[in-house]
Amino acid sequence: MADEELDTTAPPWLRLVAAFLAMEPPDSLISLARDCGGGSITDGVQSFIWEHCIRKAEGKCHAPYVKNLLKKLIVEIESIGGEVLDELYEQYAHYMTSLKENDTTKGSAKSLKWVSFLFPDGCPEATVCPKSRKLVIPLQCSLNMLEGDTGCSLWPSSLFLSEFILSCPKMFSSKSCFEVGSGVGLVGICLAHVKASKASFPPSLLSLSPPKLSVLVILTDGDLSSLANLKLNLELNHLGTRSAFSERTIKDPHLVQCMHLPWESAVESELQDIMPDIVLGADVIYNPLCLPHLIRVLSLLLNREKTYPHEQNGGCQRSQLHGEVHGGDDKQLNGCEGKARLATTPNPTYSPHVSKGVPVAYIASVIRNIETFGYFLNLAEQANLKVTDITENVKRFDLLPYMQSYHLSDVRLVSISYTVQ
Ligand SMILES: C[S@@+](CC[C@H](N)C(=O)[O-])C[C@H]1O[C@@H](n2cnc3c(N)ncnc32)[C@H](O)[C@@H]1O
Repeated sequence: MADEELDTTAPPWLRLVAAFLAMEPPDSLISLARDCGGGSITDGVQSFIWEHCIRKAEGKCHAPYVKNLLKKLIVEIESIGGEVLDELYEQYAHYMTSLKENDTTKGSAKSLKWVSFLFPDGCPEATVCPKSRKLVIPLQCSLNMLEGDTGCSLWPSSLFLSEFILSCPKMFSSKSCFEVGSGVGLVGICLAHVKASKASFPPSLLSLSPPKLSVLVILTDGDLSSLANLKLNLELNHLGTRSAFSERTIKDPHLVQCMHLPWESAVESELQDIMPDIVLGADVIYNPLCLPHLIRVLSLLLNREKTYPHEQNGGCQRSQLHGEVHGGDDKQLNGCEGKARLATTPNPTYSPHVSKGVPVAYIASVIRNIETFGYFLNLAEQANLKVTDITENVKRFDLLPYMQSYHLSDVRLVSISYTVQ
């Protein structure tokens, strides 16, 4: 394909820029660059990468990442006898002299990533950004997945949950939402974009603030460094924040609120007045030690009667009252014999409980350990929480088509609601 014929507004080019901004692995970018050039990285593609990726983001992107990308790009072009654009060589030479080798690997280094949600044509729900048809969210993330108790980096389930929210904005708009284990805050920022807010959080939570208050998205995390990073990300996205229980000063009707909430020390009185319509969580089911506390928090948030059964028979025992949980077809996840099973929705049209005024939780998870997940199901059963696998039943557009480093097909989405006895 001659470079003059390149349509740089077409999807492959948008994907290339999006992948660069999200710091996708250089090999993924090279593959996308080849797509743009009809199979090879032509002069036109190189110019585009220089102008629309590297030069545009200069000073904002993580330099060691760009250096690594340039290196691989140059090797790729030279390997097929192509001519490398001078600017790409020069930029690489600049990094060679200005960056030390170990700058790339520093464990605590943070960098800015931009997650671009690209709305496809014929996506009627994409009311979030009808003109540009893309939503770009800057996030400060750690390069070390474990920093801040894992809360300073981005996890696949939050990408999945964000796609779900942006694909079904009406399910979340005008609903009060509360997230546990928010991490870098992507889910909360997406909620703010679909204007999840309603004056349903009580004045007691909001420090005697004016009655017309309409927070709201409440984002929480148990790790203080993650919470600090989360607040920074909300500022980067121009979302007004304030801490729970402090004086309300901002008049933003779509205020996002941050709250330090370690599940272990969450007190009933602190949560009892919060009546969210929707509770969310992404990749929060992984540490068995935390799960009883997470279940307690979910129960307090989902049970409007606020009568959490304190006297549980401990650990992973099956509930005497309910036997098997809620029937449903066995799925891959029901791997633990004699333990609680996961219900699945019987028909493909998922109708959310929240529409009937009953709060619901949406928890997205990569099931890394089937026993841990089984333990979660058992604890949920003991707490009278009905867990239903709705992964295949919700509408979710592929809004991150350029993202190859996260496997969203590994993510399961469950809905959880309190069952009245
Ligand atoms: C794997 S990260 C997921 C972060 C984010 N939801 C995402 O998907 O990108 C787990 C998050 O849960 C939080 N977390 C883990 N254990 C917690 C606990 N016991 N109490 C409160 N938050 C906890 C961590 O701080 C972290 O932010």
